[in-house]
Amino acid sequence: MGYVSTPTSVLSFIGKSLPPSVWSSGVLYLPKPLTDAHKDILNDNGWMQSYQPTGGKEQGGQSPKDAKDHLVNRFLNSSARMQFVCADPLDEQTAVRNMVLDQLGDGNNFLLDLAAGNGAGTLALLSFLCELRIQRSIPKLPLNVSIVGVDYSENALEFYANLLERLTPWFSSAGINVSLVTNSCDIRVSGAVSEVLESFFSHARQNGVNRFLCVISALSGVGKDELEVMHDSLKIVAARLSHKTCTSSWLWVEPHVKNSWLTRFADSVRLVLNQVAFHFTRNGDEYNIRTDVPQLAKHKSRRFYWYDPHIDQEVKSHVTVMAFGNE
Ligand SMILES: C[S@@+](CC[C@H](N)C(=O)[O-])C[C@H]1O[C@@H](n2cnc3c(N)ncnc32)[C@H](O)[C@@H]1O
Repeated sequence: MGYVSTPTSVLSFIGKSLPPSVWSSGVLYLPKPLTDAHKDILNDNGWMQSYQPTGGKEQGGQSPKDAKDHLVNRFLNSSARMQFVCADPLDEQTAVRNMVLDQLGDGNNFLLDLAAGNGAGTLALLSFLCELRIQRSIPKLPLNVSIVGVDYSENALEFYANLLERLTPWFSSAGINVSLVTNSCDIRVSGAVSEVLESFFSHARQNGVNRFLCVISALSGVGKDELEVMHDSLKIVAARLSHKTCTSSWLWVEPHVKNSWLTRFADSVRLVLNQVAFHFTRNGDEYNIRTDVPQLAKHKSRRFYWYDPHIDQEVKSHVTVMAFGNE
């Protein structure tokens, strides 16, 4: 199926048009099918009693215990961050919402989920779109999303597949068909990432698809030293997505990060995606970029409140988002 251009009405979507099922009286609500899928997976494993939304490691990790902790305690928070930046209820960074609505409005799309873990970010993104469709806020045009999830935690990737399976009937009812291929891969190893990309692009080519979205959600917890080791891989991904034949977008969502190192990494990705030459150097605890084009301004952190149905309470959270495409 060819790509059908997204109606302009969708791109003039404003925060006030959000249905109350996702945003009401200044509080964000995650769609019920998403929170139910999370509740059910916890109940099926007998983990609901240990739910502590402020507990567990924010960054997840490779071990089965880290994967479980992140699923139990952090899944909803990570989902809420993604929904907040995509919904943008206060119209603060409308370019992000427009990019998401445009890229995932209809047609066929290949989505690379880096450090995918249990899929919180991407599943929340798709759930938000699904809820908008169900509430008739956006058109229910056929949308096919082929996800390739990359993480070095096999357990986390299994949770991702399990959650997607639970959400699939709801997605389908809104015209969203999602497939998931998981790849257990260490992002610090650029050769391993290249191998994943080979099959990602060859699968997309076979399907005649040239629309790509790369999602990174909640990776900054690994810290700048680890991100530095992943840097080559991120640039390789961006270089492949930069091809003139591709329409590529990159969505990077994180909790609050104090210094500007995250922005510099994201900016280097943006420059590669746009085929711009630059120098990237470390400067103590920060990084510098030298290039001829304007650079990304330091990311801003936004505070918001979301309703946690598992504890029947409003919870405070912070989020940072950087989004760009190849122009
Ligand atoms: C905080 S979780 C984020 C999960 C999910 N993306 C989300 O939206 O919440 C971070 C993930 O990064 C993964 N990760 C960290 N270092 C990695 C590496 N070197 N290679 C692959 N995955 C890595 C962890 O296994 C974990 O699943």
